[in-house]
Amino acid sequence: MTMKTNLLRAAVLSLCVMVQVVTSVDPTAIPQAPDWPFDVTTLTAPDGSITAKFVSFGATMTELWVKDRDGNARDIILGYDDNTKLLTDPAHPVFNPIVGRYANRIKNGTFSIPISADPPPDGPNVYHIPTNDHDGQDTLHGGIYGWDRRNWTIVQKSKTSVTYLHIDDADEGFPGTVTAYATHSVENGGVLHTQVHASATEKTPIMLTQHIYWNLDAFQGSENILQHQLHVDGSRVVAVDGDAIPTGPFIDVEGTAYDFRTAQPIGARWNETVGLCGPGCQGYDNCWIYDKSEEEVPGLTLWSDLSGIRLDVTTNNPAVQVYTAYWLDTPRKQVHGGPSLNYTKWSAVAIEQEGYIDAINTPEWDVDQIYYPGRDFHWDTKYKFSTVD
Ligand SMILES: *[C@@H]1O[C@H](CO)[C@@H](O)[C@H](O)[C@H]1NC(C)=O
Ligand SMILES: *[C@@H]1O[C@H](CO)[C@@H](O)[C@H](O)[C@H]1NC(C)=O
Ligand SMILES: *[C@@H]1O[C@H](CO)[C@@H](O)[C@H](O)[C@H]1NC(C)=O
Ligand SMILES: *[C@@H]1O[C@H](CO)[C@@H](O)[C@H](O)[C@H]1NC(C)=O
Repeated sequence: MTMKTNLLRAAVLSLCVMVQVVTSVDPTAIPQAPDWPFDVTTLTAPDGSITAKFVSFGATMTELWVKDRDGNARDIILGYDDNTKLLTDPAHPVFNPIVGRYANRIKNGTFSIPISADPPPDGPNVYHIPTNDHDGQDTLHGGIYGWDRRNWTIVQKSKTSVTYLHIDDADEGFPGTVTAYATHSVENGGVLHTQVHASATEKTPIMLTQHIYWNLDAFQGSENILQHQLHVDGSRVVAVDGDAIPTGPFIDVEGTAYDFRTAQPIGARWNETVGLCGPGCQGYDNCWIYDKSEEEVPGLTLWSDLSGIRLDVTTNNPAVQVYTAYWLDTPRKQVHGGPSLNYTKWSAVAIEQEGYIDAINTPEWDVDQIYYPGRDFHWDTKYKFSTVD
C-alpha cells in the first residue's frame, strides 16, 4: 500500500462526513480485489442485528440478513447466486444497485438545459440519452449502461461501512463529468444507511435511487408480497401515460387504490390495480410524493405479519417509486428456493427513494434537478428494521 493511499485512508477515517471531503481520490491508487468488480464486501453491525453484502459492480447490495420475530435471520432482498448476472442477465431487473445518473424515465430520452416542456430535437443545449424502454419511447435508469452497470471502486472500507466511487465521464450522452461516492453502512439496532454524494463539472440533471427489491418473508411460507402491509405518507401520485411518463397532474389518492396513508395489505384493492403499472400489467409502478415535511419522519413502512419483519424508511428524497415487480422472470437465489423456482410477478416490491420523476421534462412543477460546480447532489436514506408481534 502506498504512502499516498495510507494518508488518504487516514484522512478518510478521521472525518465522519468523508463523502463530502474525499473528492480527489485516484481510484487506480487503491488496489481492488482480484475478482473486482464482483468482489463481495460483508458488513455486520456489532450487535449482530443486521448483515449486508455488496459488490463493487453498481455499488450493489446482494444480500441483506435481518432477524424475524423468532430471532432467525432471513435474506430479505432479491438477487442472484452468481453476481456476474448483474451484468449478463438480459432481463436486467436492476437488483439493488445505485441507479443514475438519472433514475426512472426520461421522455423520448431527451432533455434540454435550461429545461423545457418540449425540447427541440436539436440544439446546443439539447441532450439525447439512449432509449432503452417501451420500444424506444423513453430512457430508463440512466440509459443502457447506467450507474447500476458500471464498475465502481472501493475507496474506504471497515467492518460496518464501505464507500464506492464512480466517475461518470459524460457517459450515455449526459453533459459533463459526475463524481459519485456511495457509502453503505450498518448500525446497531438493525439499521442500514446509504448515502450518495455527487458533484458535477458542468450543468447536468442528477436524480438517483437505490433500487431494492424486498420480500420480507424471504419466500418462507409465502410466494408473493400481496399480504405485506404498506404505509406511504403521500396523498399525491404522479399521473403518467401508457409509457409511464408524467403527464403533469397529480392524482389525489383519496378513495383510490393508491391510498396507503393508513397501512393496508399491498393486495387490499388488487382488482383495482389492473393497468396501474401500464398496459397489460397488474399492480403498482407509481411515484408517490411524500407529504412529510421533516426528513426524520419515516415516509414509508412495510411489514409482514408472517415473518414479523418490519422496515421503516427515512429519506431526504421528496418521492418514492413503488413497483410490485409484474415483469420479473428470473431464477431465484438458492436461499429463496432457486434455481428451479423463479422470481415472478409480485414476488417482491421494489421501493425506490427518488426525486420527482422526469421533472426535467415537466417545468410546470418548478422542481430543480440541475446540478453544477457549487451545487452538489446528496442522497440519504435509512432503513430501520424491527419486528411486529
Ligand atoms: C425524440 O428524440 C429524437 C432524437 O433522439 C428526435 O429526432 C425526435 O424528434 C424526438 N421526438 C419528439 C416527439 O420530440
Ligand atoms: C467492468 O467489469 C467488467 C466485468 O469484469 C469488464 O468486462 C469490463 O471491461 C469492465 N469495464 C471497465 C471500464 O473496466
Ligand atoms: C377480484 O377478481 C377475481 C378474479 O376476477 C374475483 O374472483 C374476485 O372475487 C375479485 N375480488 C374482489 C374483492 O372483488
Ligand atoms: C425462469 O426464467 C428463465 C429466464 O427468463 C427462463 O428461461 C426459465 O424458463 C424460467 N423457469 C421457470 C421454471 O419458469
